[in-house]
Amino acid sequence: MRVENLNAWYDRSHVLQGLSLEVNKSEIVTLMGRNRAGKTTTLRSLMDFLSKRQGKADSDGTSFLDLPAHERFHLELAYVTEDRRIVPRLTVKENLELGG
Ligand SMILES: Nc1ncnc2c1ncn2[C@@H]1O[C@H](COP(=O)(O)OP(=O)(O)O)[C@@H](O)[C@H]1O
Ligand SMILES: [Mg+2]
Repeated sequence: MRVENLNAWYDRSHVLQGLSLEVNKSEIVTLMGRNRAGKTTTLRSLMDFLSKRQGKADSDGTSFLDLPAHERFHLELAYVTEDRRIVPRLTVKENLELGG
């Protein structure tokens, strides 16, 4: 996956400013940063949870920023949401297994 010059906003707040990153096959890439640095916003904007964003992102050459979620699935892109009570009846183990 390659992300180039990603910008994202919450209303007028310009939260991501020109973020680029690359994840190659078999790599595990971790985003690290203090609270409110923009880790969650990075994932949310790649997965189409933010309405206002700009930039380029592709998976194996297929541009995906404008694709609907079910088409991203076929590019093996998935996102497990965070926060409390996302799926309230699941156990902690089951929540973690969602990642698979
Ligand atoms: N729903 C939201 N509305 C407005 N601002 C937000 C919202 N979510 C996050 N932010 C702001 O965006 C910035 C990045 O937050 P976030 O991506 O949650 O950081 P992290 O995941 O690294 O802790 C912070 O300044 C935060 O206050
Ligand atoms: Mg976060």
